[in-house]
Amino acid sequence: MKPLLSLIGVVITIVSLVVFGFTYRQVQEQRTALLDDLERRTGLLADSLKESIRPSYLSNDTARLQNVLDKFAGRERLLGLAVFDNKGSLFATSAELPQELTSGASIPEKAMDADSNEGDFTFLSESKIYVFATPLHQDEKVIGAVTVYQRADYIDDAISQTWKRNLVRLLTQSLLFSLAVILIFRWIIYQPIIRMAEAIRQTRSGLAKGDPDVFKAHSFFSPIAAEIRKMSQSLLLARTAASEEARLRLEKIDSPWTAERLKEFFKAYLKDRKIYVVSNREPYAHKKIKNEIRAEMPASGMVTALEPVMEACGGLWLAHGSGEADRFVVDKDDKVGVPPDEPKYTLKRVWLSEQEVKGYYNGFCNEALWPLCHLAHTRPIFRQEDWTEYRKVNGKFAQSLLAEIKRVHRPLILVQDYHFALLPAMIKASRPDAEVGFFWHIPWPSAEAFSICPWRKEILEGMLGADVLAFHTQQYCNNFMETVGKEVESLADLEKFSITHKGHTSYIKPLPTSVAFTNGETKTPAPKSPLMEKLGIETKYLGIGVDRLDYTKGILERLRGIEFFFDLHPAYKRQFTFLQIAAPSREQVAKYQEFSEDVERESERINRKFESDNWRPVVLIKKLHTHEEIYPLYRSANVCMVTSLSDGMNLVAKEFIASRTDEAGVLILSQFTGASRELKEALIINPYSAEETAEAISKALSMPQAEQRRRMKKMRESVKNYNVYRWAAEFLKALASLS
Ligand code: F6P
Repeated sequence: MKPLLSLIGVVITIVSLVVFGFTYRQVQEQRTALLDDLERRTGLLADSLKESIRPSYLSNDTARLQNVLDKFAGRERLLGLAVFDNKGSLFATSAELPQELTSGASIPEKAMDADSNEGDFTFLSESKIYVFATPLHQDEKVIGAVTVYQRADYIDDAISQTWKRNLVRLLTQSLLFSLAVILIFRWIIYQPIIRMAEAIRQTRSGLAKGDPDVFKAHSFFSPIAAEIRKMSQSLLLARTAASEEARLRLEKIDSPWTAERLKEFFKAYLKDRKIYVVSNREPYAHKKIKNEIRAEMPASGMVTALEPVMEACGGLWLAHGSGEADRFVVDKDDKVGVPPDEPKYTLKRVWLSEQEVKGYYNGFCNEALWPLCHLAHTRPIFRQEDWTEYRKVNGKFAQSLLAEIKRVHRPLILVQDYHFALLPAMIKASRPDAEVGFFWHIPWPSAEAFSICPWRKEILEGMLGADVLAFHTQQYCNNFMETVGKEVESLADLEKFSITHKGHTSYIKPLPTSVAFTNGETKTPAPKSPLMEKLGIETKYLGIGVDRLDYTKGILERLRGIEFFFDLHPAYKRQFTFLQIAAPSREQVAKYQEFSEDVERESERINRKFESDNWRPVVLIKKLHTHEEIYPLYRSANVCMVTSLSDGMNLVAKEFIASRTDEAGVLILSQFTGASRELKEALIINPYSAEETAEAISKALSMPQAEQRRRMKKMRESVKNYNVYRWAAEFLKALASLS
């Protein structure tokens, strides 16, 4: 609609300019004609008046003179008449001629001095008056002047009438024109385009089965429609071939997993059963940005992993509706199709009250469970009221999910993360036929560390409702088995890695999450980063960190490592810039507010210590960035730093590797991330040691290209081979194989 409005705007502006031009000329001509007419009429009147009053003026017969003046003065638009003697003094006036007009006699004097007719405009109050004077003669000698006062307002009135008439005409024409353009646009252009776009969308998403009718368009577009129809048929053929290939690949164990292969796997092994994902964080949050509602993907490893899987398999994703404009886009069942541009699955939003968010999310999830499971030396806070809200919210999600699966036989349910530890048991209690998988996205601590939680037994029993319980690493699985053994009466089978509790068996599995990386071959050139250009970073070397502003990410330790690096290697000053992209996170939680301020303060301190000319060693940007914005940054970086103090997996590390089609760049990776178990060719560091971090930066920046390529190649192979499609397939296989 915007381009159409601009088109109408441009046309109306041009037409208006033309109309204004013409009207201006027209009123100029009109004014000249009216003035000429006024002068002519006044001149004629003055001449005939002169003849009539000369005798009485000469004989000084004032009574007769007055009579003549009053008789003439009654005419239309004539305000009055006056006679001046040759000294410029008023001799006689018609009755009712306002005195202000005759008090100065400049025009009659001018006429007498020049011995010619003189006319000019003057104002009486607001009214415009035309004053015309003609000399009176006796034997060629000027003996006085006759002055005529005409009302001249009608000239301006006539001109403004012309303007008004033309403007109304312009408005009507513009309105009719806009209406005509909109109607033509809608019928001839917009509707056929929308129909064609919908047909293309359906073909692209595999919904259309090549029905040529969907490409029916106005004859105006028929050549394009014909081409699109052909393209769509080719696409359908290609799709069929790809899906056939994916089906064949299912049998080949060593071929990489792709979205297509996962789809085929889903059809073949799960017979297209519907998947239900439950998580706290939603994959898309709708925000109001400048009067427009836009969907944003949050900074979340869980979303990065699950979203491509849901795009491939379809299904329903139940999550907390936390976006400020979320309610505006859902239907009456609180559902919306996503991704917004091309919906492939359904997002169902669950609404939480402020009190629920405070107790369940900010309190129990982020102040109790998060620090309990991440060994980052932040003390967990256990509040009874937070626990109450946590239980309540788990119950609320359970009810919402149970309503969805009411008529679904053996639904496949994938519960995500520490927000819903109680959910598996709640679902199983009502629906024992449901197959419930539970993925814990954060580390599972040692049994001793977990034992400080006052509600450990309830949490573990809730989790043991799941049929498959998965963690990123074998170590977390071991810790979990040990914790259950210590806290809950149960039977552990160390061979099958399962726990039987109250007659139900849960299988514990290490399943490292990953990213949707499928293609390791294409060497695409690094795209330009508008952000880098905006920031004006021009140093030879660039380091990058991409994190949520979370104390577990080791950002402060990273900054200290960078400081130490410049202390040890001052030659890198003005040669190396570190760009920290930090997405604000959990801002209602005090610890996170403090942490955000600490990061800012520390960056400033380091900048003050080393900055010179236009160079600052640390560029900190506290803002959520899209994957599209981050990708060119990964590609420009010489080194990516992941220095978490404790991290379930860390998908930033894998995203960085997936982006490097050029097989260049170095990853510095904390030994306390799940990712460090797989990415052995990264420079593995202990983030608590500033010296180790500094040394790793130095090693990364001086690493020969060949060495970078060797390491990156291996890491890319590993991420490609165990990408998120494989993760999902293994998770689903583990779940479905139980029945
Ligand atoms: O890693 C655990 C996790 O739940 C992931 O989804 C994500 O990385 C992060 O925490 C997001 O936190 P939140 O959803 O609280 O913003």
